[in-house]
Amino acid sequence: MSLATGSSLAAPGVFITFEGIDGAGKTTHMDTLESLLKSQGREVVRTREPGGTPLAEKLRGLFLHDAMDPLTETLLVFAARRDHLTQVIQPALRRGAWVLCDRFTDASFAYQGGGRGFDLTVLNTLEQWVQEGTQPNLTFLFDLAPEVAAARLASARHPDRFEAQDALFFARVRQAYLDRQTQQPHRFALISADKSQTEVASQISAVLHEKGWA
Ligand code: TYD
Repeated sequence: MSLATGSSLAAPGVFITFEGIDGAGKTTHMDTLESLLKSQGREVVRTREPGGTPLAEKLRGLFLHDAMDPLTETLLVFAARRDHLTQVIQPALRRGAWVLCDRFTDASFAYQGGGRGFDLTVLNTLEQWVQEGTQPNLTFLFDLAPEVAAARLASARHPDRFEAQDALFFARVRQAYLDRQTQQPHRFALISADKSQTEVASQISAVLHEKGWA
């Protein structure tokens, strides 16, 4: 059964996602990559999950702040993803844009699968239904110990339902991310995010050089 008119498997754009536990410091490095790509004259679509469309942003508000069971949570985030993919990501990839997305399906495997203990088989099925073959070309996984991330977040604003979880939850999330990376090593670039901003930036730059994108 096909749910959409097309897949971005052969699309000319480049899809890059940024993942890691809360407090891993993705945002600064997304800003830097966005500026670099724009300075090369490329079209960049900067977006995030859950979110990225008016509907998905509404679902994000519910997802982050309203109490719900793990199945509801999972269905909401994949519903938001479906809208985001069909309205924003796939059209951008088809016209050759670079899509930089703050979190994507690896976060569902990490947070709902690892953190909440939700069934991975169901997550795999949802991934196939919702994405129909669209996968990131590259995923930066910002890896660091939950204690270091928690210390960085300590001064942050009022925590959402995920940021409020304990260290054990984030240890499971981290491990689930690392498991995804082990399963799909060709797609992931593992970044040691406990280093200084300059050192993290040079790890990213090395990956871009390796890909021939710098
Ligand atoms: P993020 O945008 O990184 O949070 P912030 O705006 O606070 O920096 O991510 C929002 C939260 O949603 C984050 O705690 C992880 C969670 N999340 C999931 O649990 N599953 C998912 O599939 C996604 C995309 C995010």
